[in-house]
Amino acid sequence: MSKPKVFITRRIPDAGLNLVYAECEVDLWDKDLPPTKTELLQHVPGVDGILSLLSDSIDAEVIRTAGENLRVISNYAVGYNNIDTHTASQHKIAVGNTPGVLTEATADFAFALMMSAGRRVVEAEKYVQAGKWKTWGPSTLLGVDIAGATLGIIGFGRIGKAMARRATGFGMRILVYGPTAQPMAGVIKVDLNTLYRESDFISIHTPLTPETRHLIDAEAFAKMKTNAVLVNTARGEIVDQNALYEALKHHKIFAAGIDVSDPEPLPLDSPLLTLDNLIVCPHIASASTTSRDNMAIIAAGNLLAGLRGERLPYVVNPEIYG
Ligand code: DGY
Repeated sequence: MSKPKVFITRRIPDAGLNLVYAECEVDLWDKDLPPTKTELLQHVPGVDGILSLLSDSIDAEVIRTAGENLRVISNYAVGYNNIDTHTASQHKIAVGNTPGVLTEATADFAFALMMSAGRRVVEAEKYVQAGKWKTWGPSTLLGVDIAGATLGIIGFGRIGKAMARRATGFGMRILVYGPTAQPMAGVIKVDLNTLYRESDFISIHTPLTPETRHLIDAEAFAKMKTNAVLVNTARGEIVDQNALYEALKHHKIFAAGIDVSDPEPLPLDSPLLTLDNLIVCPHIASASTTSRDNMAIIAAGNLLAGLRGERLPYVVNPEIYG
């Protein structure tokens, strides 16, 4: 019997890749940069499955071009805003993601960004490298306190909760906002305006949807404290970047740390890169070896289940199963 054909849009860790090779005829896009839209459209016709990355737009055109054999799209990410799940569901194509295994790594990184932006770690390192360190100074590179401060968490799913667990250890007061935010010991559920008004640190952990696009806009920044630090490890489009620039440039908030941007990568001439009070990282919050290996295993498992006609272990459009 012939093996199912799959297109894998980038080399993922062997832990998952080898599982796919064992059962499929694989077309692997083995380059550093993602396939362009044209290249994607050239590689998908006739495939039974696609294993995609968050940087690949699997839109209606890609899904239709793949054709009627396509049964499963497995995203190597927990977020799946890059996939047109509506069109996939219409065609009874299962879409999978990789939740759970990157929770702790992502929360670790969000916490690291929070501390680094609040205590100006990156700016301090640049200060030393630039030869500006002449003596110990009572007011050199003053930052904001983390212990005992108020942390506002937007989106209280797995990663938001992992962030709260870390904040508890720092004696922080924790406010949470989210349509499905479940109270947990030691956290206070609030509305968004209260969260903006009272938080010293705000960390975003909500998915990108039409409702959360530009959730943090100029109006939101105007409500925040001037000592506030914003952290975004979710999706760049949740923050209006022009408003972020204005807020940081004019010190309406103290600092920000972002692991995600709009677009990615952030162009080198972006005004955001001129700011001392902003840390920008290249979307690496889940980038621990263990998390990425486990993401590969889950992505492969979803892909293979879909090809066998089984329910995906982690399916984002369960409605296709009726
Ligand atoms: C995800 O999985 O959605 C992250 O953004 C990357 O790991």
